[in-house]
Amino acid sequence: MLKVTVFKDERTLARALATQIAATLNETPDLVLGLPTGRTPVRLYHDLGTLHADLSRATTFNLDEFLGIGPDHPGSYRAFMAHHLFSRVNIAPERIHVLNGAAPDPEGECGRYERAVAGAGGIGLQLLGIGTNGHIGFNEPARELAARTHRVVLKESTRRSNAALFGGDLSLVPREGLSMGMATILQARRIVLMATGKSKARSVELAVRGPITTKLPASFLQLHPAVELMLDEAAAGLLGEHATF
Ligand code: PGA
Repeated sequence: MLKVTVFKDERTLARALATQIAATLNETPDLVLGLPTGRTPVRLYHDLGTLHADLSRATTFNLDEFLGIGPDHPGSYRAFMAHHLFSRVNIAPERIHVLNGAAPDPEGECGRYERAVAGAGGIGLQLLGIGTNGHIGFNEPARELAARTHRVVLKESTRRSNAALFGGDLSLVPREGLSMGMATILQARRIVLMATGKSKARSVELAVRGPITTKLPASFLQLHPAVELMLDEAAAGLLGEHATF
């Protein structure tokens, strides 16, 4: 069942989720978190720092990474995470997992990542953003979706929305990425998808109400027993009055 909670703005949403995650970490210190990048989770990550959320025993797995650049590249998602979250909280570096976009054998890297997720006991709480086209991670709308961590050719729109990480120069944005697959994501015990802003309203509406289709990867969340969508009013703008779907 998809639970939908609407907040008056992005700030309130981020604070509520950060508070909830900090409380979950108190109860379950060895929580395994799945983490997104992008504009949406930035405030949440900063709030986890401000609230001194205790990640000392937690493990994290990021959803995706660009292919062809290493973890030290300033445009990498690894660098994004270091800047916005890992440098602000007490997580142990050895329990941080981000796909290595510079791995000499990308397919082997994907297999290694799947085994690491399984070895950690699976994802306990998966946080997600959503693309304006309904993508989750780098699982883009397509005729088929991959179940497991895989190599992907990035859509032009995805490259464009990441250009800021590369000084605004689209030509510098990698053309491929590595991403957790749909099954990797859907096997998380709990999923929270965050969406803010009017540009997400349509993909949120389709994810909640539309048919389950590979053309909108987030629609597969309807199959999961424990998903919450945390939205600001703008992103919830096409859902009407109902809080639960
Ligand atoms: P955004 O990206 O948070 O930058 O909007 C979300 C996504 O594309 O998954």
